[in-house]
Amino acid sequence: MKGVLLAGGTGSRLHPLTRITNKHLLPIYDRPMINWGIEALVNAGITEIMLVTGGTHAGEFLRLCGNGHEFGIDRLSYGYQDKPGGIAEALGLAARFVDGDPVLVMLADNVVEHSLKPMVDAFRANPVGARILLTPSDDVEHLRHLGVPTFDDAGEKVIGITEKPEHPASNFGVTGIYCYDADVFDVIPTLVPSGRGELEITDVNNHYISQGTMNYDVLEGFWGDGGESIDAYYTVNDFVRKNGANKA
Ligand code: G1P
Repeated sequence: MKGVLLAGGTGSRLHPLTRITNKHLLPIYDRPMINWGIEALVNAGITEIMLVTGGTHAGEFLRLCGNGHEFGIDRLSYGYQDKPGGIAEALGLAARFVDGDPVLVMLADNVVEHSLKPMVDAFRANPVGARILLTPSDDVEHLRHLGVPTFDDAGEKVIGITEKPEHPASNFGVTGIYCYDADVFDVIPTLVPSGRGELEITDVNNHYISQGTMNYDVLEGFWGDGGESIDAYYTVNDFVRKNGANKA
């Protein structure tokens, strides 16, 4: 299984901090944000990784991560997104790197308390379709910034995901951590840009839901998106400083 870490975007929600660097290079406690994502993948047993970034600070990632060996990565590749065209577009740049294997995709501003290994192992055991990771939340304002799943009447099956809903249909957010089979690279070219002019990962996920091949796990413990807002950035910092991240 391969890993793709997505570290592009303009980071506009963290301006002016992100006028002078890429959001994923900002510190989370004692290291740059991207380091936590790398650790999450390596801890889950994924050692072939492509890091996709963009913008004017891409060179800094090479300076920080090099060939990846110091982080336990066997093979570290880099992708460059010319312009911010969305998460799904950025993932599309990894098609040749992934080369038909199942893939774990992680937005590099996501930080988790616990290991991703259970989710990755579940997908490894049955690497067909897609698998997403949901986080419970009762905070409607927070859910309005995320993808939110709708469940069937039994409350078991995800029947759709709405990106940034005004009225969230459930008390779960879709984290930026996804497993896909290689078909994902056939789905991405069929997408049309959303209202914010991006190819949405939520549209990829809805495709798998419509095919009946989407599974999910509910995350235990803390999850944070350090790029969601300046407050979220500090929530993640405070949590990691106190508790660490990526624990067994
Ligand atoms: C993205 C996804 C969204 C997901 C979130 C998690 O949002 O589009 O579905 O809930 O990441 O971090 P974005 O950060 O691009 O607004």
